[in-house]
Amino acid sequence: MATDRTFYVTTPIYYVNDAPHIGHGYTTVMGDILSRWHRQRGEKVWYLTGVDEHGQKVLRKADANGVSPQEWVDRLVEDEWKPMLRTIDIANDDFIRTTEERHEKGAQAFWQDLYDRGAVYKGGFSGWYSVSSEEFVGDDDVHDGEGDDEGFKVSALDGSRVEYMTEENYFFRLSDYADRLLALYEEHPEFIQPESARNEIVSFVKRGLKDLSISRSTFDWGIPVPWDSSHVMYVWIEALLNYVTAAGYGVDPDRFEELWPADIHIVGKDIARFHAVIWPAMLMAAGQPVPHRVFAHGWLLVGGQKMSKSKANGIHPDEIVETFGSDAYRYYFSRALTFGSDGSISWEDIGARYHAELANGFGNLASRVAAMIGKYHGGQLPAAGPLSQPEMALIDDIGAAVGAADAAIERVAPQDAMNEVWRIVESLNGYLTEQAPWKVAKDGTESERLGTILNTAAEGLRVLAVVLNPVLPKACAALWESLGAEGPLGALADQPLADAGRWGQLPAGTTITKVPSLFPRIELDQA
Ligand code: MSP
Repeated sequence: MATDRTFYVTTPIYYVNDAPHIGHGYTTVMGDILSRWHRQRGEKVWYLTGVDEHGQKVLRKADANGVSPQEWVDRLVEDEWKPMLRTIDIANDDFIRTTEERHEKGAQAFWQDLYDRGAVYKGGFSGWYSVSSEEFVGDDDVHDGEGDDEGFKVSALDGSRVEYMTEENYFFRLSDYADRLLALYEEHPEFIQPESARNEIVSFVKRGLKDLSISRSTFDWGIPVPWDSSHVMYVWIEALLNYVTAAGYGVDPDRFEELWPADIHIVGKDIARFHAVIWPAMLMAAGQPVPHRVFAHGWLLVGGQKMSKSKANGIHPDEIVETFGSDAYRYYFSRALTFGSDGSISWEDIGARYHAELANGFGNLASRVAAMIGKYHGGQLPAAGPLSQPEMALIDDIGAAVGAADAAIERVAPQDAMNEVWRIVESLNGYLTEQAPWKVAKDGTESERLGTILNTAAEGLRVLAVVLNPVLPKACAALWESLGAEGPLGALADQPLADAGRWGQLPAGTTITKVPSLFPRIELDQA
């Protein structure tokens, strides 16, 4: 039988026509932060990411490089996509490739089910198709290209070139689902977020839906349609299924029941329609529950333009991580941008936040506290004496910030969560400035008071280690160790968020070691 529910988070599966850029890294990091946060709450979590390997976009790229599509994807997955996960410190539970047998089998089972239920029929298709976004484009959205695209037709949706195709295809009865979809958006306003994406989707569906061509018969880089092997599945209608095939659809009913429906699909807004219109309609047609939420985030803009490989403004995650480290990478994207809106990023901004917030704010606080315990207390955590007003105020502030950060994650607003957590950094810095333990230490008569201040500061750091762990796993592991990991503290996994604000968890006498420089200063001119 199925066990208790698991919080199931997914990213889109990325096309392996090319190497990843930080746009892909962005989605993956945000999914990871969400997953780690829920784990820190003590929940069971399953975080899925992976790659989309079929379709014409990948096929053409392999052809252009003179290798078979399978060779091309194998090489890129091993040399680029899996290493990216390590570069940005992703703790995914699963990685799905659409050329894996589990996916091919599950996708075929799902298709057969759609067919048996009468949701699919055969017909003729003529129309425009963009290989770059693997998307059909309506006549009204096709324009004459200009500049480099002179002589070609382009899609108004994303500027990509389109081609006219005429084929015999299988069709999915998408038009049958408009009312049920509108009812879903109405009854579950949280289904598609944020509000801007929801509005766009609702008005799109209100304009009416057309049946969708879902198979292709002019190339064979795809999964054969189970009842007609002269067709392969249209790549999107195959790729969306990764969310269920990875969860055991058609092969492991217990696992499927535990994981499905997904709690949240994180996607870029460019692909919100596929996830909030086509995907739930397919699930409805197959009699399966729809996911709880689809969250569409905005674009990373570089120099004011959407970053993409084809525009040559695509930055590889390595380029940032090599200079600033993976923690700073994760922090920057979660703190500096509003999840759900477009946002500009720049090297200067990353550097400025790194120094102001991570090095001078958090890192410096951690090393000062550990250094003072070393200097004034031989590296043993002093016991706290009676708490006075400043301690009580600090504890209140910290408890409120932890609660507010948790609520922000609940509404998928990591930037707000980080702002709340930074209130803790600021409160602790303010507390130390006001209480000035270095002055108290000079006056040898107040050793109990000195102990209270140092103990309180160390407790504050403990809370920070717990709440920042989802974003800064490397720094928090180092901080945790210096707070006495060899003592009775246990692993971070044993530190659920709900307990973070519970005061007095570090036992007096714990050995506090020097905190290594968590965020060393970087000479940016040389970077
Ligand atoms: N293969 C499809 C998704 C199938 S999911 C069943 C696909 N792949 S993709 O490689 O093009 O990746 C698209 C995703 O990458 C976007 O939805 C977004 O999550 C991320 N991003 C790509 N460029 C981006 C930016 N410039 N900014 C932010 N995210 C971006 O579409």
